[in-house]
Amino acid sequence: MARCTAPSAPRFEHHDGSVLGIGAGAPRLSWTIDDAEPGFAQTAYEVEVTRAETTRVFPVEASDQVLVPWPAEPLVSREEAAVRVRVRDAVDWSPWSAASTVEVGLLSPEDWAASFISPRTLAGLEAAAPVVRGRFDLPAAAVGRLRLTAHGVYEARLNGHRVGDEVLAPGWTSYSHRLRYQTHDVTDLLREGSNELEVVLGNGWFRGRLGFLGERGLYGDRLALLAQLEVTDAHGELHVVGTDDSWTAAESGVLADDLYDGQRTDLRRPMWGSESAADVVDVVPVDLGVLVAPDGPPVRVTQVVPAVQVLRSPSGATILDFGQVLVGWVRLRVRGLAAGAEVLVRHAEVLEDGELGVRPLRTARATDTYLVAGGGEEILEPGLTFHGFRYAEVSGAGEVRGEDAEAVVIGSDLQRTGWFSCSDPMLARFHDNVVWGLRGNTVDVPTDCPQRDERLGWTGDLQVFSPTAAFLFNVGGFLTSWLADLSADQLPDGSVPYVIPDVLHDPAPTAAAWGDAAAVVPWVLHERTGDTGILARQLASMRAWVDRLDALAGESHLWAGGFQFGDWLDPSAPPDDPFAAKTAPDVVATAHLIRSADLVAQVASTLGEDAVAGHYRVVAAAARSAFGREYVTPGGRLLSDAPTAYAMALQWDLLPTPEQRVGAQRRLADLVRASGFHIDTGFVGTPLVTDALVGGGDVDVAYRLLLQTSCPSWLYPVTMGATTVWERWDSLLPDGSINPGEMTSFNHYALGAVADWLHRVVAGLAPTAPGYRRILVEPRPHAALTSARARHLTPYGETSVAWERDGDVLNVEVTVPVGAGATVRLPGLDEQTVGHGRHRWQVPDPCRVEEHRTPRTIRDVLDDPAIWTEVVNATAAVGVAADETAIAKRLTPFFDDPAAELVERLFAHGPRDGYGTLTKQLQPLLTP
Ligand code: BGC
Repeated sequence: MARCTAPSAPRFEHHDGSVLGIGAGAPRLSWTIDDAEPGFAQTAYEVEVTRAETTRVFPVEASDQVLVPWPAEPLVSREEAAVRVRVRDAVDWSPWSAASTVEVGLLSPEDWAASFISPRTLAGLEAAAPVVRGRFDLPAAAVGRLRLTAHGVYEARLNGHRVGDEVLAPGWTSYSHRLRYQTHDVTDLLREGSNELEVVLGNGWFRGRLGFLGERGLYGDRLALLAQLEVTDAHGELHVVGTDDSWTAAESGVLADDLYDGQRTDLRRPMWGSESAADVVDVVPVDLGVLVAPDGPPVRVTQVVPAVQVLRSPSGATILDFGQVLVGWVRLRVRGLAAGAEVLVRHAEVLEDGELGVRPLRTARATDTYLVAGGGEEILEPGLTFHGFRYAEVSGAGEVRGEDAEAVVIGSDLQRTGWFSCSDPMLARFHDNVVWGLRGNTVDVPTDCPQRDERLGWTGDLQVFSPTAAFLFNVGGFLTSWLADLSADQLPDGSVPYVIPDVLHDPAPTAAAWGDAAAVVPWVLHERTGDTGILARQLASMRAWVDRLDALAGESHLWAGGFQFGDWLDPSAPPDDPFAAKTAPDVVATAHLIRSADLVAQVASTLGEDAVAGHYRVVAAAARSAFGREYVTPGGRLLSDAPTAYAMALQWDLLPTPEQRVGAQRRLADLVRASGFHIDTGFVGTPLVTDALVGGGDVDVAYRLLLQTSCPSWLYPVTMGATTVWERWDSLLPDGSINPGEMTSFNHYALGAVADWLHRVVAGLAPTAPGYRRILVEPRPHAALTSARARHLTPYGETSVAWERDGDVLNVEVTVPVGAGATVRLPGLDEQTVGHGRHRWQVPDPCRVEEHRTPRTIRDVLDDPAIWTEVVNATAAVGVAADETAIAKRLTPFFDDPAAELVERLFAHGPRDGYGTLTKQLQPLLTP
């Protein structure tokens, strides 16, 4: 009797389901097992591979089920295989899984008969987007495949029908090293005899504007297409035709297109070009060795959002509100306009004084224009650009009704794998904002922002956000591709460009927390997806980065001086100087050197490279002791007496003695109190600070920080109506105006990195072995919440932790997938280990409100939310200090003093107006 259900149909590499045009001849396989009897443990599996007419079964004695090696001879270009699996425990075999199919793309440049072609005279930088066209006679197709890519972005039609549903293909990679091609099943679009393939080419990332320096054509000044149509006839014979000099080119109806500036379309012109204006094409030399198959999903339309209201601005403009900051474009229905009338659609993420707030876009015009054909109903929609927006101002379209407009959301079509919910609606909205931020910043490349003249693959942003991303979506393939670009663009000396793909071309890009993406992101992928292959692939790149830092540090073992972004956007830095963080850049730098060296050592030992691991342990140890000598006092104070410094030191084990650790923990919590529980960290410290607080036992302080709603805090933007995470803590100032800093985005994921902590610690669902094969369930319930839940589709299947406080008890429910196990730590219970299945516990609620206790010290006053709120309100009312932060600052030197002396201390340095009133009001709360 089978003791488990049939496994899922196998997955190949990081793809979901069957795959067409994979780039690996020996793709690794994974499966999940939905259900099994208690105690079931896979001890062996069989993979059945059917290729051509032969079927073979490969037995393997192993408990692995995630990214297991391809068991058969590697597949060759164009070869297809159907694969299914079954598994066995000590007792019996499961039923066979359903089969999934994998078909290999073109593995070698010799497989291409087509050549890159480019219009000869049309398609200059200022010209209309060209359409390239080819015609072929073909036999009836049993199977048809179209493989194509471009310099630029493309959309293809075969015999008048759109090919596939991809947007902005082939996406953005480090083009001179890696250019993706796509494979489509076009069997149903082909016909016997004459066929016509038309492809429109846009400027995209290849030739459009990129970066904040206004540059265009960074990869080249000619658009080009490579397309190969492969038809297998009824006899199994392969017929291959492709782009060559017999193709022609014409101008499309797209007069201009740019990712930043928008698209200008003339709907009076034939969209796919007119034959009469045909131009010849040149074959252009491009090394076909750079062609690679996609590792992850393409960019697609992922959602359509209706307009929620039509606003009339003070200046009389018509503004559509889509209710959500998102990424894509507007689809607009117009009717009855005169031929040639111009309709303009401008985009912005926020309104300021009721008008579009376009200043944050800097030089990106983000404007789509249409010259309409006129007469009847017309749909206006671009396809060779995208914008980040919530609002769109429409002019020239006459009366615009909400039902005539929708926002078309685009992005890499990543599978959603993670969810979080809780009883606090603001925190839940914050989490939704994190999800939207990720969706908007994964348009083929993980970007800083999707709206202004930037949208670049900033390494630092991803470095801090990658754990969150890996929980929320399947980013395995997406980031595998990005890491391959990182290795490709890394400098020979190991420096890592600030943005990947690199378009800034800094000659010596070494910035802590940014370049460290080289070491951190592969490790995160390994930890979250169970992929060890990625470590092997990235090890050389990781090592080169750490070697570079080690060389920079030299004999002192301190990486000091030189250019650094540091703890970027520390909230106390002035709007025009985001570099001016409290934590010294040197402290940030050496801390990162140590952390990355540790990671490389860990990776090398995972890969069995013990000598390499030993070397990087030595590098880390030398830098650690230098850090301890240079920056830490014997009592655990740090050179930069700022939360980011303590958070790094605590999280990355930079403090040699237990006394120093205790001292640092205490100091960190006091600094958070001193800020009145406001965030006081930038890009570097923000993902670490709550973990560091909880690690030191200061769970309450962490929650106070998390749930703060005044500025700066995670929830302040939520109070201001944010629907995404902002670049700055105060991108929108409390008075509703846009932050004056020139760098002010309303869709930046970096500061949302705390979501990973919500999943791991608030809900309590953390991986402790690669791919969540072992899960740590250790929720940290808090009086501020009555429930929280995290759910994640791990490579082994679905796991979840949900807790709810109910009366005097805490109910906890945990799901563990087959193949994984969990260590469970709950308040009042001994640690337990459980296997797959659903488990429930009921324990005493650890957050039961204790009887009211009079605070002993001033620190205790801050730690009691009810008393502290009264102190803040009363103190502000008499005008002693303006707000929570100012009051906390005044009291900071006196945290250890008796609570009864609080009022006295508030007046320590100034006039005593209001002393009597405050004493009367507060003293009863502060004395027993
Ligand atoms: C980007 C950031 C990036 C930074 C470098 C900015 O312009 O938007 O998110 O990491 O530059 O410090």
